[in-house]
Amino acid sequence: MRTQVAIIGAGPAGLLLSHLLHLQGIESVVLESRSRAEIESTIRAGVLEQGTMDILTETGVGERMRSEGALHHGIELAFDGARHRIDLTELTGKAITVYPQHEVIKDLVAARLAAQGELLFEVSGVALHGVETSQPSVTFLHGGAECKLEADFIIGCDGYHGVSRPAMPGQGLRKDFQRIYPFGWFGILVESAPSSDELIYARHDRGFALVSTRSPTVQRLYFQCDPSDHTDNWSDDRIWAELHARLENRDGWKLKEGRIFQKNIIGMRSFVSTPMQAGRLFLAGDAAHIVPPTGAKGLNLAVSDVRLLARGLDQFYRQGSEEHLNGYSDEALKRIWRAEYFSWTMTRLLHTFADATPFEREMQRAELENIVSSRALATSLAENYVGAF
Ligand code: PHB
Repeated sequence: MRTQVAIIGAGPAGLLLSHLLHLQGIESVVLESRSRAEIESTIRAGVLEQGTMDILTETGVGERMRSEGALHHGIELAFDGARHRIDLTELTGKAITVYPQHEVIKDLVAARLAAQGELLFEVSGVALHGVETSQPSVTFLHGGAECKLEADFIIGCDGYHGVSRPAMPGQGLRKDFQRIYPFGWFGILVESAPSSDELIYARHDRGFALVSTRSPTVQRLYFQCDPSDHTDNWSDDRIWAELHARLENRDGWKLKEGRIFQKNIIGMRSFVSTPMQAGRLFLAGDAAHIVPPTGAKGLNLAVSDVRLLARGLDQFYRQGSEEHLNGYSDEALKRIWRAEYFSWTMTRLLHTFADATPFEREMQRAELENIVSSRALATSLAENYVGAF
């Protein structure tokens, strides 16, 4: 088999890249280790920045996002018994849409298949070869057969645990940056009407909590927990007691309960692996960087990476120039580091740290107080949140 661009991983990064390349007349093949049903049902986060909404709309895959996603013009910060609205649209002219990642994936898979795109699911034993030559290739097993895919470029979009990053040559020269947080998020899906029109990010002495949504009848809630805890330790009653304690304030707002039909615990880390290019192998999305979910940036960073790659590949195939491709890592990392900074800031601002001194806790409260009382600081938070840079 031969193609122009071999893409490892059918997450948002791989699928969107394949879609953008197709619109530019560039061929690709996407290899995915999981099944279609699995990628279309894996629950992940769901906040789309304005720029992400725009690119999905401009490239013809935004219809369901616009009709089924929830357009939000603000978020709320809750602390010290009160809620404070950050008016994203007034402060930045932009908005966000809450639309789950697996729905984005469904839309992209449908678009790729409708265009006869080559998308191979349930491949295994993926190995990358010759990435420092101009004829790289990928070998893998598909349907029991050994396959070889030759390409001009390989793009690793296979996430943090994928094979692409470890296949980057010059491992000794690579520089990775990491922070693992001493807490996780306990996430639940609930059958109920929304408790709030907007997302609520709450800081409480018992720990952070977040009110998000999935649809008019399904809500997504999270609370800070021990990352080594197990969902079995948490009965529904215990979960509700914790959420009520952290979220309900003296303003009389009440959290709506409902049937909990999914529970999971996610770890929290910040991670950046540099550079994002080695010869003809490029990394995009979680394969190269992870943000804690507090800033809602993960999917949006994957989208901005592949946007740059699509531009670089377009320049290569149209003009024979590798200028944009060779600038990809530096260009992408500028945005990635700013998103890492924002995600880390939101994380340290809103979570309780077991080792924080009483003084540090007061500093955290004072910082939140500053943000909600200063238009300048609130604007900065809003700009970062909507991705207005
Ligand atoms: C979600 O709805 O899953 C969600 C929303 C906002 C975040 C993280 C996750 O910051």
